[in-house]
Amino acid sequence: MSGYLLEMKGIVKKFDGVPALDGIDLQVRPGECIGLCGENGAGKSTLMKVLSAVYPHGTWDGEILLDGRPLKAQSIRDSEAAGIVIIHQELMLVPELSVTENLFLGNEITLPGGRMDYPAMNQRAEALLKELKLNDVNVVLPVSNYGGGHQQLIEIAKALNKNARLLILDEPSSSLTASEIQVLLEIIRGLKAKGVACVYISHKLDEVEAICDTIVVIRDGKHIATTPMQDMDVRRIISQMVGREMNQLYPKLERTQGDIVFEARNVTCYDIDKPERKKVDKVSFTLRRGEILGIAGLVGAGRTELVSAIFGAYQGASECEVLLNGARIDTATPLKSIRAGLALVPEDRKQHGIVRDLDVGQNITLSVLGRYARFSRIDREAELKTVAEEIARLGLKTASPFLPITALSGGNQQKAVLSKMLLTRPKVLILDEPTRGVDVGAKFEIYKLMLELASQGMSIIMVSSELAEVLGVSDRVLVMGEGRLRGNFINQDLTQETLLAAALDHTHE
Ligand SMILES: Nc1ncnc2c1ncn2[C@@H]1O[C@H](COP(=O)(O)OP(=O)(O)OP(=O)(O)O)[C@@H](O)[C@H]1O
Ligand SMILES: [Mg+2]
Repeated sequence: MSGYLLEMKGIVKKFDGVPALDGIDLQVRPGECIGLCGENGAGKSTLMKVLSAVYPHGTWDGEILLDGRPLKAQSIRDSEAAGIVIIHQELMLVPELSVTENLFLGNEITLPGGRMDYPAMNQRAEALLKELKLNDVNVVLPVSNYGGGHQQLIEIAKALNKNARLLILDEPSSSLTASEIQVLLEIIRGLKAKGVACVYISHKLDEVEAICDTIVVIRDGKHIATTPMQDMDVRRIISQMVGREMNQLYPKLERTQGDIVFEARNVTCYDIDKPERKKVDKVSFTLRRGEILGIAGLVGAGRTELVSAIFGAYQGASECEVLLNGARIDTATPLKSIRAGLALVPEDRKQHGIVRDLDVGQNITLSVLGRYARFSRIDREAELKTVAEEIARLGLKTASPFLPITALSGGNQQKAVLSKMLLTRPKVLILDEPTRGVDVGAKFEIYKLMLELASQGMSIIMVSSELAEVLGVSDRVLVMGEGRLRGNFINQDLTQETLLAAALDHTHE
């Protein structure tokens, strides 16, 4: 007996002849948590899709052994029956179904005679959510009533309901708050103690460091190293991931700022369901030419609502006055905002960022298609030239511009969305969580690009939940709490503690 719960041997997976996985080995012991690390496009999600039979046996080469015996799962159902459960990087919930219905989809509790036993399922659903400390969810309401963080936790609850022997978590924490992440890590510790094995994928390496026993690094579809966490630290993980030492996580660029060019006055957003409640309450701020303004705050502080209202993309009712170069501009809809010189890269890539039915290139040029219109035709050559330039500029990893956008790894989809908005050549660029799911090396490239754009005179607003990132790139930081502005700090000797204290402060308004 090897002592392994699971072994993957020499896994090769090709897409149109191009290998995404090129002979990967992976071993997992019972109760062990593997941190699977690698850059965007390294092959992490693909490897886990092979393991969970999203790609059935026969569509890849190599071998999977479970308890030392070959596993030839033909479907997710087969792999789940064998105890392998995956929480996907992109949410897979059905928005129209209730929380309970989602939790039990394909796994329903039935009464004798075959009817669904809703009371039993609702009760179990409530218990599951309680384990995740989700106390404000009504399980009979549609999942779409809840925000990204809650949906992510519901997705996790769904997996916990399946009695996994091996639980795969692919970027489970990208929209969770710090305290939600702690709850998640605690649950994983509990599972490990019960002998459940985990594969944990996250670009937040401090989480990986906190929870994983073994670090497996892959790069370009190849295995680089397997190392016990006790012999590793975040720096070493990074250098194995990118293949060189990264001494600096935030680029530096000498810049000067100009006059005030942009102003938002009295931005107010009303709750969609309870219009008497304000999500954002009379927030005003200014922005200089070439300035990078970070907006920090806890999840739920109203940051996304603030920037979407400014851009005319807020779903509910909102009010605000927006000025560019001293003159009022109409930002009632995203299109008007773009015409006026604003651009917003939204937080929720899957819902608002990408167009799933279009290819990579079409997604990139979507917002500026008019530029390639020649009489009634589209100048495809000019369009493709731009696409090629953009792919090179952002280091976007794609086998071809004609791949469906959904075939790109998560971080590369993010780059495509960024590129789409940059092409509109905005005067004010608003980025909402721009590096969510982006690897350390690519983060560095995105920050560098932000600094360069700012030095050329573009003004940038960046909403981010990562305080280190806010401090790493902003010239000035606004802190929001409960829909109001709670602080406005020049980023000099500024610390995470100061920002957190401002975010949590209920007295100072
Ligand atoms: N359906 C597909 N068709 C073509 N290429 C694909 C497909 N799925 C994945 N790929 C390619 O395989 C490679 C690995 O992608 P994968 O999603 O596994 O990366 P990842 O390590 O999970 O990255 P990230 O950290 O960004 O999530 C990428 O180059 C991707 O473009
Ligand atoms: Mg992935």
